[in-house]
Amino acid sequence: MYTHAIVKKPGINFAKGITTANLGKPKYEKAALQHRLYCEALKKCGLKVIVLEPDLRHPDGCFVEDTAIITEKSAIITQPGDLSRRGEKEEIAEIISNYKKIRCIKSPGTIDGGDILRINNHFYIGLSKRTNKAGAKQLAIILSKDGYTSSTIPVKSVLHLKTGVTYISNNNLIAIKEFSNRFKLFNIIKVDEDENYSANCLFVNNFLMVPKGFPKTKQKISELRYNIIEVEMSEFRKMDGGLTCLSLLF
Ligand code: GLY
Repeated sequence: MYTHAIVKKPGINFAKGITTANLGKPKYEKAALQHRLYCEALKKCGLKVIVLEPDLRHPDGCFVEDTAIITEKSAIITQPGDLSRRGEKEEIAEIISNYKKIRCIKSPGTIDGGDILRINNHFYIGLSKRTNKAGAKQLAIILSKDGYTSSTIPVKSVLHLKTGVTYISNNNLIAIKEFSNRFKLFNIIKVDEDENYSANCLFVNNFLMVPKGFPKTKQKISELRYNIIEVEMSEFRKMDGGLTCLSLLF
């Protein structure tokens, strides 16, 4: 069970972040509202939510997931793959150090937390445009010292591994086509191509947060009897962000 979430509010220059989505410019007021509702959803899941103020030097800073990988044993501060995002990790490291022992990924290794998919005590490390082999190797060594296993998986069609596949407990994975044959031991819920965005869901304690507006995925998940919380994510989607991107859970 998670007890805490770290989140960071989007700043007024949120639209200046990196994106490939081609869905138009996000509106700041709308993003701020959606972020508040996201925090409310996390509280409903029983979490104490630590809310950080925006840092205008880092328009992508609300996507805190990319800056750390937190386990029961420690917090591994990443080395974000895009140079414009490197500075985001300092404040996160400072906050997490109040709770966890800190370790760091070092250059030339790069890791974005969005590429790290944990299933029980195994970590899948997506090799993407943001996460390289050197970073994956460093992370594997740290995780192994803490008693976890890991393996790598190529990421081709999406930004991060978790853009296209997330673990939602009970042996269930929700995935886009690229990843639907990669995880043989699991029950795969395949999202329809026109609902690919909904492969990024967030299972928190006994609740499943899903993005609003994806009826076919919702129908597939409903059959599995989750406590579903739908969250409007339109403005974060415009900046290539999903539900997992907006928080660090521990
Ligand atoms: N906008 C999130 C990212 O590209 O890292």
